[in-house]
Amino acid sequence: MLILSIESSCDETAAAVVEMSHTTRRIRSSIIASQAEIHAPFGGVVPEIASRAHTEALTTITRQALAQAGVSLGEIDTIAVTAYPGLIGALLAGVNFAKSLAYANGKPLVAVNHIMGHVASAYLCHQQLQPPFLAAVLSGGHTSIMKVEDYTTYRTISRTRDDAIGEAFDKIGRVMGLPYPGGAEMDRLAAQATTPLGVKFPSAALRDCDDFSFSGLKTAAVNYIHTLTQRGEEYDPSALAAALTDAAVGSVITRLESLHATRGFTRLVVAGGVSANSHLRKALATFGEVRGVEIFLPTLDLCGDNAAMIGAQAYYQAKIGDFAGTNLNGTSTII
Ligand code: KG4
Ligand code: ZN
Repeated sequence: MLILSIESSCDETAAAVVEMSHTTRRIRSSIIASQAEIHAPFGGVVPEIASRAHTEALTTITRQALAQAGVSLGEIDTIAVTAYPGLIGALLAGVNFAKSLAYANGKPLVAVNHIMGHVASAYLCHQQLQPPFLAAVLSGGHTSIMKVEDYTTYRTISRTRDDAIGEAFDKIGRVMGLPYPGGAEMDRLAAQATTPLGVKFPSAALRDCDDFSFSGLKTAAVNYIHTLTQRGEEYDPSALAAALTDAAVGSVITRLESLHATRGFTRLVVAGGVSANSHLRKALATFGEVRGVEIFLPTLDLCGDNAAMIGAQAYYQAKIGDFAGTNLNGTSTII
């Protein structure tokens, strides 16, 4: 099945063509137009600007995706689009575009959950991977651990109660004066640390339940910076990045350890923008080795938002006849 997929839930406009069957999972093209530069002066995504930029980019990048895949729109079997969760205006830009394309060309349409899309990025990188497994989606908008029961069903067992892990990196990065978004730069800085900061930031893994709370960790880091700045003292950015990374990565591993103790899973998918973090990848490898858990990570190019993952997920929905109608709407929250 040839699927043309569209992703526009946040600040990346993406289009891809994937070729999927019960034996093949292949990316024929994947185009991503990042808006990071447009939002950088504001230190975060400005929703209205994001929606407009998506609308401007969608036609061009879709044409590019088809051209790079060497297929015409007529050869496409199914059109897929991220319908939730995300910024509502940004989602609507992609949903309306995909709906029009599907309707005008008589193609079936599949509405994809962005979080399931991130999970599906692992299918594209690990041809043999199939549910059930445990999955952690760690990104700028989401921090969820779920039991993926089959390709189209999952149950969330752990989530953040406030900030997402990537959001914490980005917000602290903004106070440190790092370029937006701060996650990748924080990763690089943490690797350069030579002397420890001498401060231990609080864990985001809540003690009395399976959830996370990253706002305490964010506030502690921001307070640390403000206190030193007010005193006219300097801090070592790489040591701070390392201490922060230790706390954030440690929180994820702590939660995985506790879930492993209670649920005893043997396969774990970790996806989303933060799954690109080199320190997290190392910690996951150790966790997997010690606990006997097989770890499945997307390649770095598929960690962040992209449309190929949306197409991959759409295939499994199309297989069970889970199609959307022309009344499809975007939804900012999970439905
Ligand atoms: O999956 P994604 O592209 O968008 C959402 O669905 O949110 O994730 C973006 C997030 C941002 O917060 C960004 O700072 C973070 O992923 N990120 C990283 C790294 N690369 C991107 N965080 C930590 N280390 C990285 N190497
Ligand atoms: Zn995402």
